[in-house]
Amino acid sequence: MTTLIKNGTVVTATDMTPADVLIDGERIRAIGLGLGDSVTAETVIDATGRYVMPGGIDVHTHMELPFGGTFASDDFGTGTAAAAWGGTTTIVDFAVQSYGETLSQGLDTWLQKAGPKSHIDYGLHLIVREINDSTLREMDTMIDRGVTSFKLFMAYPGVFMVDDASIFRAMSRTADNGGLIMLHAENGGAIDVLVQRYLAEGKTAPVNHGLTRPASMEGEATHRAIALAELAGVPVYIVHLSAREALTAVREGRSRGVPAYAETCPQYLYLSLDDLARPGFEGAKYVCSPPLRTADHQADLWRGLVTDDLQVVSTDHCPFDYKDQKILGKDDFSAIPNGLPGVEDRYTLLWDGGVAAGHISPTRFVELIATAPARMFGLHPRKGTLAPGADADVVVFNPDADRTISAGTHHMRVDYSAYEGRKVRGNPEVVMQRGNILVQDGKFHGQPGAGRFLERSRFGPGPG
Ligand code: URP
Ligand code: ZN
Ligand code: ZN
Repeated sequence: MTTLIKNGTVVTATDMTPADVLIDGERIRAIGLGLGDSVTAETVIDATGRYVMPGGIDVHTHMELPFGGTFASDDFGTGTAAAAWGGTTTIVDFAVQSYGETLSQGLDTWLQKAGPKSHIDYGLHLIVREINDSTLREMDTMIDRGVTSFKLFMAYPGVFMVDDASIFRAMSRTADNGGLIMLHAENGGAIDVLVQRYLAEGKTAPVNHGLTRPASMEGEATHRAIALAELAGVPVYIVHLSAREALTAVREGRSRGVPAYAETCPQYLYLSLDDLARPGFEGAKYVCSPPLRTADHQADLWRGLVTDDLQVVSTDHCPFDYKDQKILGKDDFSAIPNGLPGVEDRYTLLWDGGVAAGHISPTRFVELIATAPARMFGLHPRKGTLAPGADADVVVFNPDADRTISAGTHHMRVDYSAYEGRKVRGNPEVVMQRGNILVQDGKFHGQPGAGRFLERSRFGPGPG
């Protein structure tokens, strides 16, 4: 099967050029100006007035994550279909080690969840909850199985949190095995004291979730994480960075030569503490950790994306229904399941608020949405760019399409949108994975189980 995408502007992390793209089977065969004049293909897609860009790579999702007595509402079927609708063709989700379980058991559970359902290709990180001699040894095995990154939590005491000694031991192991430690950086101990104090004072509304998780405690934990990585002599990746204080810690680490990397998420670029303070229980829709910050943090995050102190935009997609799930915390903000939906919205949100609004160039957009995550998480050059030999994961993007984000039209299995009513410019009109059309003309053509598990290489930030 051959496909020719004609007359578009091809955008990669380095170039933006008028060119045609020839796809042969699952891979891109050639890219060139006027290529369509000399070759024929079984399928031709006219991309006049469109950008032709790599499929998005979202390296932070939580399909069916068990959290707070319930499960994230998207499974690998609904969540990956929604991702494809939004222009994302690869996710890296988080398998979880349950207490008392081996890492292999955690990984196998997630492979069983994802395999039969996923519409798009997927990799897995591992959330490690217990660091001991045996789990440290098992990290090596996980790397051999293509799971090359491990998330540790500095927050959620009694649920996910591990202590500094454990973090340092895990980092020291990655110094030998080439894995990458990812940190949820918030000072869980201090936050927990604040949470108990607020609840004892009768402060139970959703906004208190934000007020008990101050930005200074994200800054402190981020600084600590980077200092531990520096001591261990390894790279470190800070997930879902939300606050200026944390960004400062990353920037300072990088400027003294520590290979510290970080991602932020659309919710921290577009939403704020004001959303968490919406009247009644509405704020529960915006409960995630780290929490939404005051709006003045957003300009710093945009600057971080421009200066490359932030290298990746992921979603931390972790949806919970408002009516049935967020309601668990009706009388106690600390019982509201943490997480926001977003896997479908990232591509267009970053284009609209980033490129259309003039913060970043189209090439930087591609780098943030696909190329840098592919490099950092061992998927490049097969994924994350458009080049001969790469997987034909392609988005034909209409930059002039106006639409309004709404739960009424999105495809994520969640009963609200965090961006309800937001007008955005840009639409991924055609979405392809390995040469197969997943979305075209407003119709979905994906198949559950068609997505493949991606065995990832070891961490490598690559050039630039
Ligand atoms: O609120 C969030 N972020 N939920 C998902 C779990 C995590 O910490 O990433
Ligand atoms: Zn986290
Ligand atoms: Zn997360």
